[in-house]
Amino acid sequence: MANVAVIGAQWGDEGKGKIVDWLAERADMVVRFQGGHNAGHTLVVGENVYKLSLLPSGIVRGTPSVIGNGVVLDPWALKAEVEKLGAQGVAISPETLVVADTCPLILPFHRDLDGLREDASGAGKIGTTRRGIGPAYEDKVGRRAIRVCDLAHLDDLGPQLDRLTAHHDALRAGFGEPPIDREALLAELRDIAGFVLSFAQPAWRLLNEARSRGRRILFEGAQGVLLDIDHGTYPFVTSSNTVSGTASAGTGIGPSGVGFVLGIAKAYTTRVGSGPFPTELEDETGTRLGERGHEFGTVTGRKRRCGWFDAVLVRQSAAVGGITGIALTKIDVLDGFEEVKICTGYRLRGETLDYFPAHAADQALVEPVYEAMPGWSESTAGARSWAELPAQAIKYVRRIEELIRCPVALLSTSPEREDTILVRDPFAD
Ligand code: IMP
Repeated sequence: MANVAVIGAQWGDEGKGKIVDWLAERADMVVRFQGGHNAGHTLVVGENVYKLSLLPSGIVRGTPSVIGNGVVLDPWALKAEVEKLGAQGVAISPETLVVADTCPLILPFHRDLDGLREDASGAGKIGTTRRGIGPAYEDKVGRRAIRVCDLAHLDDLGPQLDRLTAHHDALRAGFGEPPIDREALLAELRDIAGFVLSFAQPAWRLLNEARSRGRRILFEGAQGVLLDIDHGTYPFVTSSNTVSGTASAGTGIGPSGVGFVLGIAKAYTTRVGSGPFPTELEDETGTRLGERGHEFGTVTGRKRRCGWFDAVLVRQSAAVGGITGIALTKIDVLDGFEEVKICTGYRLRGETLDYFPAHAADQALVEPVYEAMPGWSESTAGARSWAELPAQAIKYVRRIEELIRCPVALLSTSPEREDTILVRDPFAD
């Protein structure tokens, strides 16, 4: 029985929450493997709307959920989210949530540094979520991070804390900030340690055991391939690998355990934060997409930039992300457009490209080559079968499949979970 990894095929915000929720009902376990509380997953369950940033989406339905070692964990954000969901009637216990004991922690000074750097960067700022994600990953790779397992040994942190604070105090001095107050930090950590440790386990063991018992595991990616630290629009990216390979490294399950890779793509394109966006529409059409699609960030509330579907970028994401099938979301947002456009290539200094160039200057310069198609006036909202879709909408989807060289496995036609057209069941593969 296949496991399934869900990853974003664009710049995040593709509507992963709904798809993951849809799949989570049939999974035995849901696992986050990268990112942190920068993610924003909105789940609509009946009358209730749940907004998750750190917790795996399965938690809302009581599916056992795991935060894998590839995630950077803010202990206070974890507590706040557990409490918020508790207030919404979702009880979370060590029975339903496991946190990998090797997760690096996001500490208050990571958040400070993220904000200080953004504020100092002027026009060059990344537009991060200011949650400390980048600085926490830097410390992980720099081998100075404090990890979940360290919370059980706070009195023995000496040399590790020395290295960590020496590094950060130098950075803070550059911003005119006082050094880290070690005693205050330790006191805060002592305060929260019991809470985090109550969920901590060697998650890789649990996952490998589940796998050997034939349990269905759903790996829940955050952000999108175009924000991947290696394959994205560097430097305007997040600080983790968002491709499906991380479902393995970020959990401790071998790559053969990952199975079907479902890439989520919106039927158009959006982006929050800075960075290149070839098909961005800074006109009435862009505004209309944003209004119809309610394009505001779940985490930061920022207005999302909007544009036409970019088949070049999604084809690239499908290739580097190892995507088996696409879930195309929010097709209903395009209802009523007289004409819809798809970007099929770029023009750069007189040449035509069928891929996105690596250099930021070239990325900013490329001009999209569009293919226009007639739109559809009928509504696709709430459709649950191909038969309910207007012929022109089907043509649009088929053309996208051809251009991205990847089949559509699911089509989502509204935020409601059941408004989904299933073409190929990822778990059945
Ligand atoms: P960071 O992950 O907070 O460091 O932000 C780096 C970039 O990734 C910024 O452009 C953010 O807007 C973007 N980003 C981070 N998380 C998400 C997400 O869940 N959805 C969309 N964009 C995100």
